[in-house]
Amino acid sequence: MSYPYQIHTPEEYHAAYRKSVNDPEAFWADIAANFYWRKRWDRVLDWNFTEPSIKWFSGAKLNITENCLDRHLGSLGNKPAIIWEPNDPEEHHRVITYRDLHAKVVQFANVLKNNGVKKGDRVCIYMGMVPELAIAVLACARIGAVHSVIFGGFSAQSIADRLQDAMATFIITCDGAFRGNKEIPLKSVIDDALVQCRFVKRVIVLTRTRTPVSMIKGRDVWWEDEIKKVETHGNPDCPAEEMDAEDELFILYTSGSTGKPKGVVHTCAGYMVYTTYSFVNVFQYHPGDIHFCTADIGWITGHSYIVYGPLGAGATTLMFEGVPTWPDAGRFWDIVDKYRVNILYTAPTAIRSLMSFGLGPIQDKDLSSLKVLGTVGEPINEEAWNWYHEYIGKNKCPIVDTWWQTETGGILISNMAGVTPGKASFATLPLPGVQPMLVDENGEELKGNGVSGNLCIRYPWPGIIRTTYGDHERCRLNYFATYPNLYFTGDGCLRDENGNYRITGRVDDVLNVSGHRIGTAEVENAINMHAGVVESAVVGYPHDLKGQGIYAYVIYSGTHGDENLTRQDITLTVSRIIGPIAKPDKIQFVTGLPKTRSGKIMRRILRKIAEGETENLGDTTTLLDPHVVVEIRDGKI
Ligand code: WT7
Repeated sequence: MSYPYQIHTPEEYHAAYRKSVNDPEAFWADIAANFYWRKRWDRVLDWNFTEPSIKWFSGAKLNITENCLDRHLGSLGNKPAIIWEPNDPEEHHRVITYRDLHAKVVQFANVLKNNGVKKGDRVCIYMGMVPELAIAVLACARIGAVHSVIFGGFSAQSIADRLQDAMATFIITCDGAFRGNKEIPLKSVIDDALVQCRFVKRVIVLTRTRTPVSMIKGRDVWWEDEIKKVETHGNPDCPAEEMDAEDELFILYTSGSTGKPKGVVHTCAGYMVYTTYSFVNVFQYHPGDIHFCTADIGWITGHSYIVYGPLGAGATTLMFEGVPTWPDAGRFWDIVDKYRVNILYTAPTAIRSLMSFGLGPIQDKDLSSLKVLGTVGEPINEEAWNWYHEYIGKNKCPIVDTWWQTETGGILISNMAGVTPGKASFATLPLPGVQPMLVDENGEELKGNGVSGNLCIRYPWPGIIRTTYGDHERCRLNYFATYPNLYFTGDGCLRDENGNYRITGRVDDVLNVSGHRIGTAEVENAINMHAGVVESAVVGYPHDLKGQGIYAYVIYSGTHGDENLTRQDITLTVSRIIGPIAKPDKIQFVTGLPKTRSGKIMRRILRKIAEGETENLGDTTTLLDPHVVVEIRDGKI
């Protein structure tokens, strides 16, 4: 596999960037020419940001799995596509070649067909990080079913909400998942969700933990049994469904500033081109390199940089089932050493957590295979950047700080490893094809360098969100209505004297906890469901490991026994409604919340108090009851 669109020098970067701005359609057509199309496009791009309506490569016919699998079989058939490291280091790892992966995807695609899954059907996937998760995702894409992967940390209620929103009638899950010393009973969580979702026709269950599960006759089937059926009766092939460029590929739910998660929709052609292009360029992938992205496929990072981007490039992608700190805090380094990993892509929160264990876990680990390090998900503080650079990269590996979002499909702003310079805590420069713009609150462009404002993108790139599932207006309002003719990211950003971008964090009511996006309104809704809670307000505060922690102010009218017990009850309610990932770190009981006369909660003040500020709480004179601020401040936990 060679990548004619791979950029190798700063000069090539600048030339590609200029071309991408002067003639975007020619720029993307040249890149798209390196993929396998059943039929080429009639038009490269049709767009307007008002509706919005964005169509890339319209008229083209393709299947993303022919690009990720079939086209590699000739030259890369015996090369590893997926290397899988199990949770338990004593268990055997697996190496799945491109030929094996193709065969398994085809086989499971036939299982899906046998079970009645058709093109356009939504299939929910709720599994641990086993190779069959990647296989399930690709099998859906093979037959044109729309996958919606849900991270294993979401609760039954969250799953039910998502199933209903997408009207997903099929589910693929596991009996359970191993994560560190925990076993997560996935099928049982699905069973709880399905009490509310009678429209689900079939649940396919893979055996992983052998935890006892209930299997409902006529609805639930075992993955292994279904495979046997297609092995003995079925056609061993499963020709890929011919898809239109703009047919839906997947839905992935993400939090926003309103109470309900949105189903971000990505489509076939643009997403394929963008993830592969960005993978090859940002990480400077070279054939034979081993790429280890530590994310979970339940998040966009896993979709784009464990599955589609690497496989589109014919790369070897390493999938890890477990957690960084089990059996000990040297686990990532053991994996790097064991497989001679060349590219390591992880989150600042993981780096900070591993830093806290000191240098012991790194000693005696051979990290010399590493060439490129990457981070994603949240701003990386300089201390973590320096530690990563010095102790993991041994001062010789470039670090790519990759800024992007679920909605962008792939990396938009990042240095390119060894090609364009990195700078601690800066995502640096946009990829060719990406046109960032900073605006003030009124939407006026902030031109020149040394400015900061709200980050927008002024022109489409192939990986951009197309709609929010079932509610296009929501997509328009969220991303395209704040500033006319611009995609608004929700992030604040600074551009330094040299034109490097530094993301400063969300400017809306969305938190970033350990690199995971959580809407404050969603957490408040969950807290408010707890009996006895009258009202609540949730804000973020700086947290050493998580980046941001969740601080909840709660007005509680229930019978106060032990306050700590009530806190635990509220926490459990949040776990049940959203999932353990949204549990508040701190809960402070208050008798009132600072509100304006119009009833709006002044979060700015609550944020300051949560951050530990005691003196400068800003103007409180417009508050209905300024005294409440003093009470809250003095009662801070
Ligand atoms: C939000 C998107 C994209 C995959 C993981 C998160 C923040 C992401 C960076 C970075 C500073 C970052 C932004 C963004 N973010 N990458 N390199 N530097 N902030 O995806 O859940 O869609 O969240 O994560 O605030 O808007 P997500």
